[in-house]
Amino acid sequence: MKGSVFLVNASHPLPDGYVPKELAPALPDSSVMLEAECAKALQALIAASGGLGSIVPVSGYRPHAEQAALWRETLATHGDDFTRQYVALPGCSEHETGLAIDLALDTGEEIDFIRPYFPYDGVCTAMRALAAEYGFIERYMSGKEQVTGISAEPWHFRYVGTAHAKYIAAHGLALEEYIAELASYPGVQVGEAYFVPDGQIAPEIDGVIEDSNAGGLILTSRRVPNEQREKL
Ligand code: DAL
Ligand code: ZN
Repeated sequence: MKGSVFLVNASHPLPDGYVPKELAPALPDSSVMLEAECAKALQALIAASGGLGSIVPVSGYRPHAEQAALWRETLATHGDDFTRQYVALPGCSEHETGLAIDLALDTGEEIDFIRPYFPYDGVCTAMRALAAEYGFIERYMSGKEQVTGISAEPWHFRYVGTAHAKYIAAHGLALEEYIAELASYPGVQVGEAYFVPDGQIAPEIDGVIEDSNAGGLILTSRRVPNEQREKL
């Protein structure tokens, strides 16, 4: 899958056998792994938020077998409703891409692996305020459950790249809504991006082509704004 904005959910599974190209630790001393560009952006974001030492990566890249095991174990221990609310079906989890990170605020208490504590205040709010500038969106917002199919997850952030993240945050969209909006204006610029339906020719602009995993390519005219590129 090319790029980082592609949609993954229950109706947009990953291709069989999908693995990220290159992984790196979420923070220098962390055993949690992420796709390399996402890891670099997360480190910059946490540092800029003043969260080094208090914001802890809990779960990043999960190989398919790990997502499948998590699904089975959660089903056995928490039941069907809870599992469907908080664990994506194996093959349909953003964690299998290395582009999703679950974060916890370190309170000294034991961290809940499935629902880490990441409140709407203090350093977590500071991080959220900067997230889009570093390419991250809060992926499962309260009020979007019908669109995402997942309950609100204040701890789960998805790397999509700065240009997309800024538009998504500014317009209060779920990733599903953003890609649907792009797709509803094929070949027309929406924010920094154009949707190019499968089989159609991309407009001739200077940009970056990414997969959408939703019936077309996404051409982005300005992948990372210059001021952001200098920070990374
Ligand atoms: N907790 C999210 C939905 C996942 O399992 O991918
Ligand atoms: Zn997550």
